[in-house]
Amino acid sequence: MNKPSRPGPLALALESRLPGLVELWRAERCLRRESGGRRPAQAARLSPAELEAAGAALLRLQRGLTGDRGLAGAPYMEEADLLGAYLLYYWPVSYLETALALATLGRRPAAARVLDLGSGPGPAAAAFADSGADELVLVDGSGRALELAARLLAPAGASTHEAGRPSLTTRRLDLQASPDLPDGPFDAVVIGHAVNELWKGQADRLERREALLAAALDRLAPAGFLLVLEPALLLTSREALTLRDRLASRGAPVLGPCLRQGPCPALRAGPGQTCHGEYPWSPPEPVAGLAARAGLDRVSVKATWFALGKPGAGGGRVGALGDTAAAAAPPPEAAAPDAGGPGFPEALVVSEPMLNKAGRIRYQVCGAEGRRAVSAAKDDEKARAAGFFGLGRYDRIRLSRAEPRGAGPEVAAGEARPLGFGPGTVLDILDRAPTI
Ligand SMILES: C[S@@+](CC[C@H](N)C(=O)[O-])C[C@H]1O[C@@H](n2cnc3c(N)ncnc32)[C@H](O)[C@@H]1O
Repeated sequence: MNKPSRPGPLALALESRLPGLVELWRAERCLRRESGGRRPAQAARLSPAELEAAGAALLRLQRGLTGDRGLAGAPYMEEADLLGAYLLYYWPVSYLETALALATLGRRPAAARVLDLGSGPGPAAAAFADSGADELVLVDGSGRALELAARLLAPAGASTHEAGRPSLTTRRLDLQASPDLPDGPFDAVVIGHAVNELWKGQADRLERREALLAAALDRLAPAGFLLVLEPALLLTSREALTLRDRLASRGAPVLGPCLRQGPCPALRAGPGQTCHGEYPWSPPEPVAGLAARAGLDRVSVKATWFALGKPGAGGGRVGALGDTAAAAAPPPEAAAPDAGGPGFPEALVVSEPMLNKAGRIRYQVCGAEGRRAVSAAKDDEKARAAGFFGLGRYDRIRLSRAEPRGAGPEVAAGEARPLGFGPGTVLDILDRAPTI
């Protein structure tokens, strides 16, 4: 993973939000203590006693959301300790994931109206607010989570207009029970880590989630987009990509991160395969202290995510610089796959570097024409000079004049033969994935 040498704009934007999160957590905690509790003076660093309390709750929350998943879909946000742990640990993670997706899409939704479904205490909405949204509508089944979101995003006494804060509406709604989403049009609809909680365990969950997301697409303005973020766990990630495929086959243009409109190749590559973004992170307090207390290895932010445009609105992919590919452009499948010799005119790196038994560093790379392994001998100086060994997930590259290699056992049925770095191979790094 490419580590940024110093905190980037996203890290700084998050840092400015952290004292508010900790202050809110402390205020809630003091309210619940009969003593009225004295508040420690320090801003974002928790005292040992606070760390102990929040760390224990985090461990329970983490097991329930990503371990046995017993809490997913349960009303855990109504439980003060768990909501508090969410605020201090997962809120910053979700905020960054949303901000990274927005940076990848290159959209600056200034003056945008945004609907956040399953908002919880509002991390995704906050990321949109920090990138210029001026109207936020938050929907969640938890009244407590919505209340905290409102206190974070529209503190009492702050003048929306003067402080440049977005206007905020919250609506408590059970998304499983009511198809009655707020009226559009919205410039963006975001649903972060909530899809997997809906109809969890039910046989028809994918159909129901698809219908909900289709209703969300209906609420979009013509140039709007739907952003879905899900945990990078194998099941939740594969189910998210299945929904991507289903909605794309209903005519919703895939805006990112994929360069491909067609079905996701990871789903066809076998049941153990999926696709996610992973962005290195050195977490600040209180996230670092809580991760250490709960024994969690937090060195990156990862999520499976995708963005779709409104069906029929002629969206097209959004490039990293915000250039919307014209609807009239030829479909990506029509691009000559081997222009300039075997390679990819444009592709995303979709894996970590892997060292194989033959001493070659190999990546999975995915472009309009599908997914393919690309490798270079680990001592290949030309590949090193071209930056091949420093590639990271979701870097965008162009590769030409590569050399076809024999299909090894790791090549899934139906996948194109791997490519190798040869003496004439040219690698262009078109864009790095955004950093935190
Ligand atoms: C993991 S949290 C995600 C919060 C936030 N969107 C984020 O990205 O961090 C899942 C959220 O989905 C909400 N949720 C789960 N089932 C729901 C339902 N049936 N109706 C409405 N909200 C629901 C939960 O209350 C919770 O706030």
